[in-house]
Amino acid sequence: MIKVDISNVWGQLSLPDLLAIEQEVAAAHNTLTEGTGAGNDFLGWLNLPTTEETEEMKRIQACADWIRENSEVFVVIGIGGSYLGPRAAIELMQGCNHNIGKGKGNPQVFFAGNTLSTRGWNELCRLLDGKDFSLAVISKSGTTTEPAIAFRGLKWMLDRKYGTDGARKRIFAITDPSKGALRQMATQEGWETFDIPPAAGGRFSVLTPVGLLPLAVAGINIRKVMAGAAEAKREYNYVRSFENPVWLYAGVRNLLYRNGKKLEILESFEPGFKMMGGWWQQLYGESEGKDGKGIFPVSAEFTADLHSLGQMIQQGERNMFETMVRFDAPEQKMEIMGDAQDLDGLNYLQGKTLDFVDEKAFLGTLAAHVDGGVPVITMDMGELNDEKLGEIFYFFELACGVSAYILGVNPFNQPGVEFYKRNMFQLLGKPGYEV
Ligand code: PA5
Repeated sequence: MIKVDISNVWGQLSLPDLLAIEQEVAAAHNTLTEGTGAGNDFLGWLNLPTTEETEEMKRIQACADWIRENSEVFVVIGIGGSYLGPRAAIELMQGCNHNIGKGKGNPQVFFAGNTLSTRGWNELCRLLDGKDFSLAVISKSGTTTEPAIAFRGLKWMLDRKYGTDGARKRIFAITDPSKGALRQMATQEGWETFDIPPAAGGRFSVLTPVGLLPLAVAGINIRKVMAGAAEAKREYNYVRSFENPVWLYAGVRNLLYRNGKKLEILESFEPGFKMMGGWWQQLYGESEGKDGKGIFPVSAEFTADLHSLGQMIQQGERNMFETMVRFDAPEQKMEIMGDAQDLDGLNYLQGKTLDFVDEKAFLGTLAAHVDGGVPVITMDMGELNDEKLGEIFYFFELACGVSAYILGVNPFNQPGVEFYKRNMFQLLGKPGYEV
């Protein structure tokens, strides 16, 4: 299990506070697992993880193997819940620069359709120039503007490069099993398709083909990811007390919110965790930010952001708490060398490893921020591997559902996202949106 430590929040909340919220956490967890709360038609994600290799997983792996053999680049088109999870997973497991040195047999993975930037589009065209590529178009609704525009452009490129039949083999559509424009197009054109279960909302869909196909193409073992998530499903739903880190995290973040801590900063000391912060931001932001309530989710990368956000965290308005995520250091170490002149004064660290310095930076930051009046939850993730990745996804999803029910909101809708779209469609003159 992930270890959640709340010893650095005691200055801001008391044991009676914690004990008092235990019943609320229990009730919220029951509401979720018994399906009695708001949005209960979107609980499909709760029971997705499985230890067995399903027929769907075999088909995903087979398609991924074909894509790996036949593509130098794989483009994943999608936005929000239809892209953040796979990108977060690939960057966490393989680093932000995972594409460098890749090619046919182990294709580069690029993400598109998550922006309306022309510069972004031009850059993608440059990256694809002369390359063999395949794509996955991921959209539950099939009508989201950003991915739909990118897909039109990339499909046109595939058609020109490979002809209609050749292009058909290179398009993989991940969408609703029966409804929507993308399903209709896929059926008409004969593309290989995978279903997004209707009962799993976008931001809870990473353990469906939405996440699994891109992960498998990137060479991540999806059976192990699912096995880790399945074990998390078993453990985190079985233990119904504060021994369960899901309870501790969900309960404490709500208590801190009630005590005026309106912002949560999720921090990791791993650059590869940055997009995981983005995935978490969407998960918690879209699930909790409604009815005038919600903890504002911010993510940061330490130590880099200690040189930007650090000042604000240390001495700015005391309206935040932090959740610091740690992983075990990898086996391969970097040792700091000595230098005859020692002009940079680093010789006192000679022979020490980089992870030794990182550990001290973590402890020093923790102590400084707690001294500065910021409560800090720490999460010890243990070893980073494929199973852990599945566990992390399930842990945060479950904690999100529980936390949102404690907060008293429907975790599974996102009515606010429609407002910008309506204005944009009016401005664009989309039929049906005339003023
Ligand atoms: O969490 C969500 O539901 C959203 O972020 C959606 O995933 C996002 O808006 C993309 O929608 P769609 O998959 O329909 O294109």
